Amino acid sequence: MEVLLDKLYEQNELDKEEIVYFLQHLTAELKDRLFHLAVQTRKLHYGGSVFLRGLIEFSSFCKQDCLYCGLRRSNTSAERYRLTEEEILECAEEGYGLGYRSFVLQSGEDAYFTEARMIRLVRSMKVRFPDAAITLSIGERSEAFYRALFDAGTDRYLLRHETASRSLYQSLHPGMSYENRVNCLHILKDIGYQVGAGFMVGLPGQTCEHLAEDLLFLKELHPEMIGIGPFIPHSATPLKDAPGGKVEDTLVMIAMARLLVPDALMPATTAMGTLDPTGREKALAAGCNVMMPILSPLSVRRKYALYENKICMGDETAICRSCIEMRIVAAGYKLELSRGDHCRFTGIPGETQSGEDCFKHVSE
Ligand code: 5AD
Repeated sequence: MEVLLDKLYEQNELDKEEIVYFLQHLTAELKDRLFHLAVQTRKLHYGGSVFLRGLIEFSSFCKQDCLYCGLRRSNTSAERYRLTEEEILECAEEGYGLGYRSFVLQSGEDAYFTEARMIRLVRSMKVRFPDAAITLSIGERSEAFYRALFDAGTDRYLLRHETASRSLYQSLHPGMSYENRVNCLHILKDIGYQVGAGFMVGLPGQTCEHLAEDLLFLKELHPEMIGIGPFIPHSATPLKDAPGGKVEDTLVMIAMARLLVPDALMPATTAMGTLDPTGREKALAAGCNVMMPILSPLSVRRKYALYENKICMGDETAICRSCIEMRIVAAGYKLELSRGDHCRFTGIPGETQSGEDCFKHVSE
């Protein structure tokens, strides 16, 4: 086990059998060392900074039917809403006033938001907030759509792969295809987006082998961002009686992802904070370096329920901002409000660095 941990830290590599063995033989003591090495690795690339992204959940309509998600189209009890362009800009304006320079626009797969509407929205955001990074998280679209939105100024795109096991993927996503999911991620990378992938921990039927495949998928794709969170069962979905993911297991996945993809930007997810009041702090202590406070209007927040009991449902944007800042500073990190680009993308705009790796050796 010591040898495997050393290899993971020094070479940022393990094969599938090694990962499975490692997961099956992890002791409490080794877990602490794993987290410590993950934190060391994060420091090497991003120092002690934690980056903020303001999350705007602008539509809860979704044409997909993912078994785990509260926004699935078959969930007739879900209240649907759609923000207008003006409402979205107002949320961003409030965030901008509080210092945010990175916005994530997320929604279900809502056909109302056509290419033309999304281009308008991104252009308006770029005009109003020229020094802010814009990330989209709106699911699977065509290559032409992704290109057009990139040309309109979108900087980043989040599309979790959800699970790298083809059979598990197919069983959880009726009417969708694993090939298309992976293809979308490759297209997004080729276009030049900073890309986010990731997966859920504790899905029904998920084994150590599946989790090893998830980690190796990330290693191969080398995304700029990696979102990993526990699966939380939603009572209005077919998976309502599933046990769900554990914070501890998710922390192990976060730390291993950090060591396998050392330069990734990794959010301490809201799902972690939902399962454990200090879940996000624990995620930071396992290698994460991003937080994504919600900027959506209070009136719609409860309706964007991928899972239930989500935290921060009643907190004004300004309160959320100070709560997050307090947590970051109390945990010993530096709050970073800049765009927070991936270290391969921090050159002069238009002169993106294309190096494979980017050791920065940031001083504390
Ligand atoms: N529990 C935890 N995470 C979920 N997601 C969707 N539904 C759930 C759930 N029930 C995650 C998916 C999606 C991201 C936006 O939220 O991984 O990509």
